[in-house]
Amino acid sequence: MTSQRMRLFAFDFQGPAHLSAGLWRHPDDRGANYTNLAYWTDYAQLLEQARFDGIFFADNVGYHDIYQGSADAALADAAQIPANDPFMAVSAMAAVTENLGFGLTGSTSYEHPYALARKFSTLDHLTDGRVGWNLVTSYSDSAARNLGTGQQVPHDERYDMAAEYLEVCYKLWEGSWQDDAVVRDADRGLYVDPSRVHNIDHHGKYFTVPGFALCEPSRQRTPVIFQAGGSAKGRALAAASAEAVFVNAVSIPALKKQVDTLRALAAESGRDPNNVHVLQMLNVVVAPTDEQAHAKYEAYRKLVSYTGAMARYSGWTGLDMSQFDPDVPFENVQTNAGQTMVDLFSKMDPDKKWTPRDIAEFVGIGGTGPTIVGSPTTVADELTRWMTETGIAGYNLAHALKHRDIADFIELVVPELQRRGTMWTEYDGSTLREKLYGPGAVRLRDDHPGLRFGVSTPAAV
Ligand SMILES: Cc1cc2nc3c(=O)[nH]c(=O)nc-3n(C[C@H](O)[C@H](O)[C@H](O)COP(=O)(O)O)c2cc1C
Repeated sequence: MTSQRMRLFAFDFQGPAHLSAGLWRHPDDRGANYTNLAYWTDYAQLLEQARFDGIFFADNVGYHDIYQGSADAALADAAQIPANDPFMAVSAMAAVTENLGFGLTGSTSYEHPYALARKFSTLDHLTDGRVGWNLVTSYSDSAARNLGTGQQVPHDERYDMAAEYLEVCYKLWEGSWQDDAVVRDADRGLYVDPSRVHNIDHHGKYFTVPGFALCEPSRQRTPVIFQAGGSAKGRALAAASAEAVFVNAVSIPALKKQVDTLRALAAESGRDPNNVHVLQMLNVVVAPTDEQAHAKYEAYRKLVSYTGAMARYSGWTGLDMSQFDPDVPFENVQTNAGQTMVDLFSKMDPDKKWTPRDIAEFVGIGGTGPTIVGSPTTVADELTRWMTETGIAGYNLAHALKHRDIADFIELVVPELQRRGTMWTEYDGSTLREKLYGPGAVRLRDDHPGLRFGVSTPAAV
């Protein structure tokens, strides 16, 4: 094994189509099976046999109805809709695997922290310590309308809420039940020792939680914290709290800059910068030879749906892209949705003026991450280069075709990475946190701010 092992997650969505637009029409796409539990349990086993670190589920509690002022284009292309709740399939996937990790997206804007903390503790118990939380602040007005609040809280304030939300969760996970609270003493008739369970007494600006957590501590206590916000506020939260940051840089220099900035911010907030892992979102189109891979990619490109891509991009940015001529360069604007997605293209290549059509072609396959096309050797070379030149920990792999592309990656690229010693052939440590920090690192690392709220021994295994 080389000194820096490549971490690999499969990026997915509990719906027929995720980031790629129009590709569900390809005969090899398996997205229509998403309502079938066996589809997910088989997939979990496939990923575990290939020694993936985990599967990472995106989620959006709204739908994309910005493009042309309606959800029609999103519905027509299954653009992240229909969308099942990502939490439900996980215990079944965990039952057929022993080591695969599960990253789950959860919003700090639409669910009370007391309820979300309980869901994560429950799944951490049932998976024996294999869950992580992708903390998002959400970006869709449709979510705000349908979940009762009517209007989105402004972008930066959503991050202030998220910071307090995290504090409530840390208090519940780390601070309310002592490790020795569950005594199960039949002679004394005492299941839980009440003196070892503590009220968290949280009375904040956004949340009030006076009592204690409903769940006893799970193996990891706090799930692994992932974060993907790229705005100034998003980066600050990530640097202060995230154990892994999920990014979508479009070039090696842009990624390097992002990694360096995050690590500097982490150091400023008193953390060990090496404890902040970065996972890059990326898409791979592989075939036995470079020529075959490019032919496959061209076939995919022909299926990209312009309106499907624009429905997604308009939803991510909050900007109705139908108001722009597809072939006239698009000027950036500020939005109340996801600023990262808007800024992405202006920063990608300062010399290029991006038109809506260019953006659709780019995001139509695998969303806003870059796509590597080639033979197993070409792909392994590129994945290694991106990693060594930037200091990232690994990848969250998107796909054009659901199931097919990751299965091809497993068949063709994984053996090459394993042969080079970049990817492991056996797991070492079963919890998700151990996959980031090494065997024995089950609980939060001792530089993590969550431990400030703890009643248990810091960094105990
Ligand atoms: C690579 C990547 C993946 C993301 N995945 C999700 C997701 O699954 N669900 C979601 O609601 N937001 C997702 N987001 C959005 C962010 O986490 C964040 O809420 C949004 O980008 C707005 O914050 P920002 O302006 O700081 O980027 C993702 C962002 C990035 C960069």
